[in-house]
Amino acid sequence: MADGSWYDADIDRVIVSEEQIRDKTTELAKQVAEDYREVDGVLLVGVLKGAVMFMADFARAMGRHGRSVEMEFMAVSSYGQGATSSGVVRILKDLDRDITGRHVIVVEDIVDSGLTLSWLLRYLASRSAASVEVVALLRKPDAVKVPVSVKYVGFDIPNEFVVGYGLDFAERYRELPYVGVLRPAMYGKV
Ligand code: PRP
Repeated sequence: MADGSWYDADIDRVIVSEEQIRDKTTELAKQVAEDYREVDGVLLVGVLKGAVMFMADFARAMGRHGRSVEMEFMAVSSYGQGATSSGVVRILKDLDRDITGRHVIVVEDIVDSGLTLSWLLRYLASRSAASVEVVALLRKPDAVKVPVSVKYVGFDIPNEFVVGYGLDFAERYRELPYVGVLRPAMYGKV
């Protein structure tokens, strides 16, 4: 922290630094590129809006490791408190194309309860993808309500509310280059 940016004063502590994110993204991309070396046409599916930073950096890291990828985005919204493990999710933005026979990698910023991902994996399977795996930068093991298979995980983090690198509080803080815990005083300010 402490590079003098406006947001540093709002952050209680950094959970994952910019450098850690960069190194882990490279490591994950290397691993995925190796695992998919025989596979043609890998399709990354990013989940808006939170995954936008990680999607952009992960896709570029894949490219640097010799893998071409295509990119798609979805936006979904859970029905608030009513969401259950049966997966009550509303599609705000669907895929723009048919994914039949495609090898899909879902790119997520965070797996929290697992409800979004659990629903999304069922949805993508129903759209006849050849395979679906997940790369998630962050996971909160203590928050999981529904078990979901995440093959590639960046960091397991404590069950605290975090912002930055795509993650927001009331739509703010997504642009932070690191992931951190907001100072409690900030919750009342928005
Ligand atoms: C966040 C995050 C994941 C989801 C994870 O998105 O980006 O998609 O929640 O939570 P879960 O594991 O409990 O389902 P959010 O709904 O906050 O939307 P946003 O990305 O547009 O901020």
